[in-house]
Order: sequence, then C-alpha cells, then structure tokens
Amino acid sequence: MSTLIKQVRADGLPRHVAVIMDGNGRWAKARGLPRVAGHQAGAQAAERLIRFAGGKLGLKNLTLFAFSTENWNRPAEEVDFLMHLLDQFITEKLKEFIREGVRLIVSGDLGGLPSQIRETVRNAIEQTAQNDRLLLNVALNYGARQEIVRACQRVASAAVAGKLNLVELDENSFACFLYTDGIPDPDIIIRTSGEMRLSNFLLWQAAYAELYFTGTLWPDFTPAELLKTIASYQKRERRFGGVRNV
Ligand code: IPE
Ligand code: IPE
Ligand code: MG
Repeated sequence: MSTLIKQVRADGLPRHVAVIMDGNGRWAKARGLPRVAGHQAGAQAAERLIRFAGGKLGLKNLTLFAFSTENWNRPAEEVDFLMHLLDQFITEKLKEFIREGVRLIVSGDLGGLPSQIRETVRNAIEQTAQNDRLLLNVALNYGARQEIVRACQRVASAAVAGKLNLVELDENSFACFLYTDGIPDPDIIIRTSGEMRLSNFLLWQAAYAELYFTGTLWPDFTPAELLKTIASYQKRERRFGGVRNV
C-alpha cells in the first residue's frame, strides 16, 4: 500500500471520483449467501473507501452510486433491506463524518424515499454542512435522466419567475440546476463487477470522464485498487476534443 501510494502523484489527483458500486449480489451468490449479505459486505467496502479517500489519499470529491431510480424494480425484501442498510450506515457514520470533516450530500429524489431514511439523510446533510475535507455525494434514488428532467423543470420555473433569461442559458448555467451544482465533473468513473455500462449514472457529468471498468466485485474493492486506478488515470492523456500532446 505504501509503495502504491508513492506511485500516485499528489498534484495530479482527480478532483472527483465517482463509483458505480456493482456486484454485491454476485459476491454473495459465489459464497452461497443471500444477496443481502452482499449488500452488507458492500457497505463495509464503502466505509473503507470513504475513510481512505478522505484520510490518507486526500481526495476532495467522491460520489458513490448507492441506489438507482431503477432499483425499485427489485424484490420488495431486497429494497427494504437496502433502505434499512443505508439508514443504518448514515446513522452510524455520522459521528465519524463530523469528526473527520466529511460533508455528506445526496444526489437523487429524497421525496421518493421512506420517511425514516429521508429524515436520517436530511439530518446528516445539515450536521455536516460546514465540513470541507471530503465531499461525499451519495447517489440515492438517483437516475441521470430524472436529474436532467428535473433540471429542465427548475430552469422553466426560474424563467417564468423572471430569475433567468433563457437567452443566457448555457452549459455552465444549466449545470447549476443539477444535483451536482458546485462539484467539478468526475475525472474518473469506476464501475466494478465487469459490467461495461453507465446504467443511468451521471450522464451529463460524464461527458469527459475517464472510464474504468474492473472485474472486481464491489465488496472486494479495496483502497489499494483505487490507488491503482488513480495511478493508471495519471498515465492517460485527456484531450477534451483538442489535439494529441506530442
Ligand atoms: C450493487 O450490487 C448494489 C446495488 C445496485 C444496490 P448488485 O445488487 O447490483 O449486485 P449484482 O449486480 O446483482 O451482482
Ligand atoms: C447500478 O447497478 C446501480 C447501482 C450501483 C446503485 P445495477 O446493478 O442496478 O445496474 P444494471 O441493472 O446491472 O445495469
Ligand atoms: Mg448489479
């Protein structure tokens, strides 16, 4: 780990890493366990990663995809378990977040969540609002298409209220209506478990993100693997539509 951390240039850290935490179900199945055991192990992997990202690594922005607008299609018992797990996770981590300077925000439709988790989330957002070491953005009841439609609705309301001149709307001002207002676009999007798709995650913000796919199942994803990903990111040449650097 210490040799790995030396391979990462502190001055070239991604400003924002976003992760599609996938493969919990398969991790459990491979062990003959129920799917929910995979989610439990996945929560531990998330805990490890948050601690490392905000601590030793010194990352500023981390987004974790925890529950999508499409995940309601899962069996009710699994959805209930996930909601309970998320509630418990945030409740239990709150003290540590406050102590370690982690600011929690949520991307997603909070109104569509069970009232108990909604309250837990609101309270954690409020209590960590002044923290500035690591911004932890949990994508919860999140779908990128829903986010873009919501942004359009908010743009329309602002225009009707005379607070926005539509002629002046551009990419930057539009982005202020997304959940990620104020956060730099992700430099890296990681997806675990071997699937190579975005599954309705950060479609707007992903425009120039570097994509990383690993076969590792989410519960097995370690800080060391994050470091390897960042080291490999630092070797990539980003062009943003420009010419190749020779
Ligand atoms: C990711 O693991 C967790 C959530 C989507 C909530 P999955 O539950 O999707 O695991 P697989 O893809 O079935 O292995
Ligand atoms: C994406 O994983 C959502 C989260 C990680 C929360 P899924 O497992 O839901 O995605 P699909 O269905 O395989 O595309
Ligand atoms: Mg999955």
